[in-house]
Amino acid sequence: MLTAALRPAFAQKIRKMAVPKQEIEALRREIARHDRLYYADGTPEISDFDYDQLFKRLRDLESAHPELITPDSVTQRIGDVLTEGFASVKHPFPMLSLQNSYDLDDISEFHHRVVNGLEGDSPEYSCELKFDGVSLLLTYEAGFLIRAATRGDGEKGDNITANIRTLKGIPLRLSADQDEASPPKTLFVRGEVYMRTDDFLAFNDEQVAEGKKPLANPRNSVAGSLKLLDPSLVSRRPLRVVCYGYDSPDKPMPSHVDGLAFLKSLGLPVSSETRVAKTIEEVIDFWQKWEAQRDTLPFEIDGVVVKVNSLAQQRKLGITSRAPRWAIACKFSARQATTLLNGVSFQVGRTGVLTPVAELEPVFLGGITVKRATLHNFDEIRRLDLHYGDIVTLERGGDVIPKVTGAVVEKRKRNAKAITEPNSCPVCGSALERVHGEVALRCTNPQDPEAVKRQIEHFASRGALDIAGLGSETIDSLVDLGLVKEPIDLFFLTPKQLLSVPGFAQKSAEKLIVAVEEAKSASLDRLIFGLGIRFVGESTARTLATQFGDLELLAKAQIESLENLPDVGPRVAQAITEYFSTKQWRSLLAKLQRADFQLKDTNAVERGTKLEGMAVVVTGSLEMYSREEIERTILSQGGKPSGSVSKKTSFVVAGEKAGSKLEKAASLGVPVLTEEQFNQLLRGEIKLDS
Ligand code: IVH
Repeated sequence: MLTAALRPAFAQKIRKMAVPKQEIEALRREIARHDRLYYADGTPEISDFDYDQLFKRLRDLESAHPELITPDSVTQRIGDVLTEGFASVKHPFPMLSLQNSYDLDDISEFHHRVVNGLEGDSPEYSCELKFDGVSLLLTYEAGFLIRAATRGDGEKGDNITANIRTLKGIPLRLSADQDEASPPKTLFVRGEVYMRTDDFLAFNDEQVAEGKKPLANPRNSVAGSLKLLDPSLVSRRPLRVVCYGYDSPDKPMPSHVDGLAFLKSLGLPVSSETRVAKTIEEVIDFWQKWEAQRDTLPFEIDGVVVKVNSLAQQRKLGITSRAPRWAIACKFSARQATTLLNGVSFQVGRTGVLTPVAELEPVFLGGITVKRATLHNFDEIRRLDLHYGDIVTLERGGDVIPKVTGAVVEKRKRNAKAITEPNSCPVCGSALERVHGEVALRCTNPQDPEAVKRQIEHFASRGALDIAGLGSETIDSLVDLGLVKEPIDLFFLTPKQLLSVPGFAQKSAEKLIVAVEEAKSASLDRLIFGLGIRFVGESTARTLATQFGDLELLAKAQIESLENLPDVGPRVAQAITEYFSTKQWRSLLAKLQRADFQLKDTNAVERGTKLEGMAVVVTGSLEMYSREEIERTILSQGGKPSGSVSKKTSFVVAGEKAGSKLEKAASLGVPVLTEEQFNQLLRGEIKLDS
């Protein structure tokens, strides 16, 4: 922590700098220093609050003096242009992978191959943690971050610079901590993007609260985060980076660990657990130590990586087509435990689908206490041949979520009963049905209280009606008290009723009523998404809203007209028509009308056929339209917005800073229009040559 005495001193120091340029530069350096202390060194000096104050001051100064903003300023991590798919970049050298080893024999074989390759010399090894995340290559030129790329196929990867710039642990500009250690002209850094386990669990809770599926492990959520097209969303994901590879043509290093030390001195995050081993026995100790202690780390590792330390020796050993001969990944085995299966409970999802859950005697496995584990469906229970009172084996591989892998049959009591499918819904007692063509069992009661709770969560979630202040506990109480029987009932709640809900007082009740009231004017696509029709995600909901512009019209749509829409296949079209043919829908519609809901598309653009059957690609940053608006417009005119340019593209609309798509269009002879020309086309003032 920065002491109280130091904090005002810094404030005073910068206040004396009457010239904003100097203050701005001092603030940038100071913020970058704190980023480095927090992310690279793990020794923060100031509180989040004080950090935010510094940031705010810089932001205020920069908005008063926009001419002083530079791209490497810490305020410029999030660019204002949406990424529209990722351009492919060729790596400066192949991004190799690693050979794997799983046991002592593999490791000593590796050592023998190395010693042979070095003609009898026994090397020093750098022993490192194997971070379980997504591989990354950073390029710095003259100390500035110019590119970040995924590994891809090793030759070419995705350019994810805009997303990586948002990570506070990555310096946009390298600063040396000693004068002699200035950044080299060109620097390539290899590392791993990862998520800490605690951050991942919090992220997953949020996913679930928003009605989305939880992810199996931190690695999947890193991969998903890096694929987001909007860098401002990426900036909200708790991503971190650790660097483990150094390469600079103009500043070669004698050893791998010297390279890592240099990266650290430049402010890049490197692992503090790396050790140099002089013998293969020390390597094995390192591997075994971390296999036993992996759960003490706040992040997932799936092994250790062992690299010949001397660069000269690395060169002598060389590489195969995929992996270097001088390194090996020593993997860990999956973590296992056994415990008592106390019984099976059921989760009822939004659509009434029952998911069996193993209720376990709590057991410690891989850093977490496991009390429950999903059994997915009854086919899985049959496959595992589970009986009540079984001792079961649990495993946690790369996934944080543990799996039941089987029963210890020898320990089964003689009269133990097999776990079988329930005959009726364990929550509400209604009949069950098997979903056609699927293994899932579904409760037939549309008002099953658990299903209704999940529906309300979805209805109120951020992508749907976004009702603030409606947490899962409140939803549980509203349903349990019988105040809400289906999501729409939220709109008929009175402040008096809310006062009977635990945790509500006058003020919070009024606040929720206001939030619910505001939700009535949500755009049509959000309402459609909130209905929870099977297979209708946010993007399909947007297409439906734009195409029909009116919920009642959508409800009457024929299956054929739905199937003709972009991104709507027969399965989705079927689910939509099924949804709107139920009694519940008719009762819901009446209630929506009574609650005075906005059922028409308030953003509706005039419908037409000007772009009938055309595939349109939008690229660059536009001035007159947001990305969503232009996509709506294209859809409303019968066109199909598409992400990449091909021979089938009818035309491209290009704004400022359009990149590779423009080149591709030119090479394929696809017409390119400005925004103004696009408008002229819609007004019928120009025509496309066909
Ligand atoms: S070195 C040429 N070091 O593991 C050497 N990789 O299974 C390339 N990984 O693709 C990799 N921690 O994504 C290296 N300390 C570490 C690592 C590490 C995690 C990942 C990396 C690589 C994969 C290979």
